[in-house]
Amino acid sequence: MNPTAQIIVLDAGGQYCHLIARKVRDLGVYAEVRPSETPAGALAFAKGIVISGGPSSVYDPESPTVDPAIFAQGQPVLGICYGQQLMAHLLGGEVRRGDKGEYGLATLDLDAASDPMFRGLSGRQQVWMSHRDAVGALPPGFSVMGRTDTCAVAAIAAPQRKLYAVQFHLEVVHTTRGLEYLSNFVYGVCGCQKDWDPRQRAPLLEQEIRETVGGRNVFFFVSGGVDSSVAFALCTRALGPERVRGVYVDTGLMREGETDFVGRMAGISVEHAEERFLGALAGVTDPEQKRHIIGEEFVRVQERVIESRSLLDEHWILGQGTIYPDTIESGGTAKAALIKTHHNRVAGIRKLIESGRIVEPLKSFYKDEVRQVGRELDLPAELLDRHPFPGPGLAIRCLCSECDAPVTETEDGLMIPVHSVGVQGDSRSYAPVLAIDSMDHARATALINRLSGVNRVICDVETRVPPNLMEVRACSLTPERIARLRRADAIVRRLSHESGYDRRVWQFPVILIPLGTEDAPDSIVLRPVDSVDGMTAQSVVMDLDLLETVCAEVLEVEGIAGVYYDLTHKPPGTIEWE
Ligand code: XMP
Repeated sequence: MNPTAQIIVLDAGGQYCHLIARKVRDLGVYAEVRPSETPAGALAFAKGIVISGGPSSVYDPESPTVDPAIFAQGQPVLGICYGQQLMAHLLGGEVRRGDKGEYGLATLDLDAASDPMFRGLSGRQQVWMSHRDAVGALPPGFSVMGRTDTCAVAAIAAPQRKLYAVQFHLEVVHTTRGLEYLSNFVYGVCGCQKDWDPRQRAPLLEQEIRETVGGRNVFFFVSGGVDSSVAFALCTRALGPERVRGVYVDTGLMREGETDFVGRMAGISVEHAEERFLGALAGVTDPEQKRHIIGEEFVRVQERVIESRSLLDEHWILGQGTIYPDTIESGGTAKAALIKTHHNRVAGIRKLIESGRIVEPLKSFYKDEVRQVGRELDLPAELLDRHPFPGPGLAIRCLCSECDAPVTETEDGLMIPVHSVGVQGDSRSYAPVLAIDSMDHARATALINRLSGVNRVICDVETRVPPNLMEVRACSLTPERIARLRRADAIVRRLSHESGYDRRVWQFPVILIPLGTEDAPDSIVLRPVDSVDGMTAQSVVMDLDLLETVCAEVLEVEGIAGVYYDLTHKPPGTIEWE
């Protein structure tokens, strides 16, 4: 069993809460995320509460709040960023709307040597800020402990009541002493005990699997990704290979060599469904429709497999590689947007889930903890270090267009009428792309901030004809275009593996866009990103030598007119294009 969470992170708006919970676990203390409005009584078991950051202003009518009773039950509470503003607002202080935000690095002056929360941390230090509103007047009983040039209230405390808050994000690496703050809170203020070590979890997890499964057998739909492979390996170790079966569905939308790679794993059989998927997708251009069709086909294939192998009888239960962020993103907490469809939750297998015939050994783990468990099981690095790859496969990286459309020259660059997806708040937006002629991330960011209606900026790295002579042509998802993308993707993957670049980036999507000429109708976009959990991401640079080699080889692929490089961070761009 997982321990009871000692620290609860209240989710006040998405992304940051996960990072906080993970950092607490890194300190050796089990933490979980809960919706911000969770009643105080339901949190009384925890040794401490953290209120996360979030994008709202406390004055927005829809902004997340917390049960004010949490401040009066004697439990330590730490507010971070929006969490600080919310704490101040609810306890009688005042939050001022800032006219100018503070984003990025700042120097904090902390003067609080004697307080257990800030012990050892007094002095000047680098912190990471991302806010517009700020606390203007303190609630009664609070004192200011730290400030920056632009933020007079950067750290506050009411030590007798064990209430603390900071305006900076102590959970991100750019706050150089962030972990010390968290450790002071968790151990010094809350008095937590070490109870979590993701490095020695395998025997416990195996025991749990045996208890859940009892005398039955387990079957998995494996994807070849880290999560389902580690979950599968754990079950195999716990129950023995004869009681665990894995089925891998070849959708025809996988990367080169993928089916061979997964098919070689012991206990896994391949279900071929390439024709069904590609047939159902023929002529489709709309990204949401693509996702929908793929989801539906998955359901059908899975149901066929389940029926043909009698996997619904009482001897079988379903194993899944669900990890903690999946349960949150599928609506597990109130504030998380349901952004992508998880195949883990399709209708055909819901029956099994509802009747409790399911085992999800990794459901309280974050990705890096899953990798750690995999290392404990001696799974090969080739598997564990794989980049995430989306379930719907190459289909979402193969962009289509309903009509022919010319590119247009503007004073900022070349407007390309390929509609790619971006994130705006919690929902998705589709907008054209701007191409510029320099690998300049700062310029790209400035352009996106200035130009409404552009959510992505790319650089034209190398093209067979000048980019302004290319055009976007009407096209859909065809086997030919998927094959073209697969070849380019394989080249990029091989070269970035050989050069070691793949270990320096978190994910490296390669995207096909319908921009080109009569002879070579498509172009490739390179999208290497750095990230912690995929929720936010930075576009990163690439060595010029490697980039040159990549361009040279990719431009050899039949039908490719150019190679572009995505300079957009997430937000406002997503990692995938669609
Ligand atoms: P976005 O594009 O939303 O992607 O920035 C964030 C992360 O999620 C992955 N992704 C998916 N993974 N099924 C998946 O299993 C999907 O439908 C899906 N869509 C996006 C994406 O690769 C990135 O790591």
